[in-house]
Amino acid sequence: MPFDEVSELLAATGARVRNSVRLAELTTLRVGGPATVAECATTDALVATVRTLDTAGIPVLLLAGGSNLLISDAGFGGVVVRIATDDMRIDADRVVADAGANWDAVVAATVEAGLGGLECLSGIPGSAGATPVQNVGAYGVEVAQLLRRVRLLDRASGEERWVEPDELGFGYRTSVLKHSDRPVVLGVEFALRSDGSSAPLRYRELYQALGAEEGRSRPAAEVRATVLRLRAGKGMVLDSGDHDTWSAGSFFTNPVVPSDREAEVRAAIAEHVGDITVPVYPAADGVKFSAGWLIERAGFAKGFPGPQAPARLSTKHTLALTNRGSATAADLVELARTVRDGVAERFGIRLEPEPVTVGVTL
Ligand code: EPU
Repeated sequence: MPFDEVSELLAATGARVRNSVRLAELTTLRVGGPATVAECATTDALVATVRTLDTAGIPVLLLAGGSNLLISDAGFGGVVVRIATDDMRIDADRVVADAGANWDAVVAATVEAGLGGLECLSGIPGSAGATPVQNVGAYGVEVAQLLRRVRLLDRASGEERWVEPDELGFGYRTSVLKHSDRPVVLGVEFALRSDGSSAPLRYRELYQALGAEEGRSRPAAEVRATVLRLRAGKGMVLDSGDHDTWSAGSFFTNPVVPSDREAEVRAAIAEHVGDITVPVYPAADGVKFSAGWLIERAGFAKGFPGPQAPARLSTKHTLALTNRGSATAADLVELARTVRDGVAERFGIRLEPEPVTVGVTL
């Protein structure tokens, strides 16, 4: 639909509509071609915009922090709805945030208010509303553990309501929200620890860095500072001057291998690597292997394929695919396929991408 018509259609919604925006400017991977963008600064504008576009049959791409998206160089043919709502309220042990609120600002505000629970999720790029979609997790904590309610717009019925976590099908880096375009997250509510202590420390790297024992708590502010330091060391805290952070975080999820295949995978690792100290973590239906470890042992070192390539593995962490400044979506797709296929060939494990892809397939 021509820009003038979209602009007219959305005139009463409260959205700010812009023509030919380079989506690279709105994503942390900094790739993505042009699109019409409707920016919504209030939840009312967001709801009205999505309803209007849906009624008119115009394809919608929802975008907030842009930190988990790989968008094609051709851009997007419909309308990108940019969730720019940013309200946040702390009341007793609860925090309620608009979907578009910057996630790390929410975590920082709760820690400063003396509330614990979210500190392990410090420094994660993106928006508060994106966190339940793929059940964001880090350093032993997942949002599903603290989430009280999610406010959703059901695009099929037009209805808005608060939904409890047990309706959302949370698992490792997944929920029912990840596999459907029907619900739009409008807001989130978390219940936190009012004594200011952290969630029990479960991640070895973290409790060791803190000199703490597994399962113990520490002041949330101390844990937040340590998490930020550990993440920064891996290039996982956004820094526009550091190309290692021009990424979508982990590009692949850690593969869960069913228990009955574990021996076979371990045998492939022993045969090819001769190193059987592969890190594994317990998972619901088997064991979770470390994708970063597998990538590195499959022959893709940090910085692969080398300094001249526009798209490379981060020089700090093999699980992040990065844009060195001039990469296209096609460059990143090629790198992702090379890594995925190399790991599959060597270890018989197929890595699954974590970011949402738009107009590209791996
Ligand atoms: N490793 C390597 N080479 C590397 C990086 C890691 O061999 O370059 C191996 C090491 O053995 C290391 C292990 O992989 O001990 C695990 O690495 P790390 O502690 O960095 O954790 P991860 O499993 O790679 C996950 C999440 C991250 C989260 C960290 C910390 C996934 C897909 N990723 O990474 O989340 O920050 O744990 O909890 O679950 C994200 O999802 O975007 C993300 C950054």
